Amino acid sequence: MLDNSDIKNIFKSEINFLKDGIKNSKNPYHTFTLSTLDKESPKSRTVVLRNLETDTLKIFFNADYRSPKIKQLIDNPLCSALFYDINRRVQIRMNCSSTINYKNNISAKIWDKTALQSRKCYMGPHTPSTTLDTYHPNIPLEYAKKDPDKANSEEGYENFVHVELLIIDLDILQLHHDGHIRFKVVGKDLSYVAP
Ligand SMILES: Cc1cc2nc3c(=O)[nH]c(=O)nc-3n(C[C@H](O)[C@H](O)[C@H](O)COP(=O)(O)O)c2cc1C
Repeated sequence: MLDNSDIKNIFKSEINFLKDGIKNSKNPYHTFTLSTLDKESPKSRTVVLRNLETDTLKIFFNADYRSPKIKQLIDNPLCSALFYDINRRVQIRMNCSSTINYKNNISAKIWDKTALQSRKCYMGPHTPSTTLDTYHPNIPLEYAKKDPDKANSEEGYENFVHVELLIIDLDILQLHHDGHIRFKVVGKDLSYVAP
């Protein structure tokens, strides 16, 4: 049978997988499904995990300030983050509260480290998710086949946000043929949950 030290070890190990997912695009935890509330109806989409803090559990992603997800998070900061590792058959589901870092010290620091190739994604002439009459990749067309230089790329900062998701609680589910393991984490407390 499992005891509390087993779930502590599973939790530590999943935190390490999440850390690896920040830079390792082959790790399924490199992306997660973010769900927000749009008035009464939920909206989900994939985003890239950019950072993780463990003192107080927090995850981070980048987005365009003009995008619907940011408006939704401003209107209601509560959201859900869902990770699934298809190879190890582990799901992590997080209830979160968001803080939008826009044109502040934190967003400036992250923007400074953002590659030119990524910066051009924030230079699109169109508001993300709006309907277009004709196709447009929503990056400046002169940068379709090359990156902007550093000076020109600064234009993208106008639309760049670094979003912090404070994890209110989470649950981890490991699928096993001989019995699934599921537990929740609230602050420093870990407890088993019926799978
Ligand atoms: C693999 C993958 C990674 C993505 N990463 C991000 C991301 O980090 N940030 C982001 O804003 N959108 C990302 N997107 C696009 C979103 O899923 C979504 O289509 C777009 O941001 C519009 O979302 P919204 O209309 O709900 O704001 C990604 C899409 C894919 C397929």
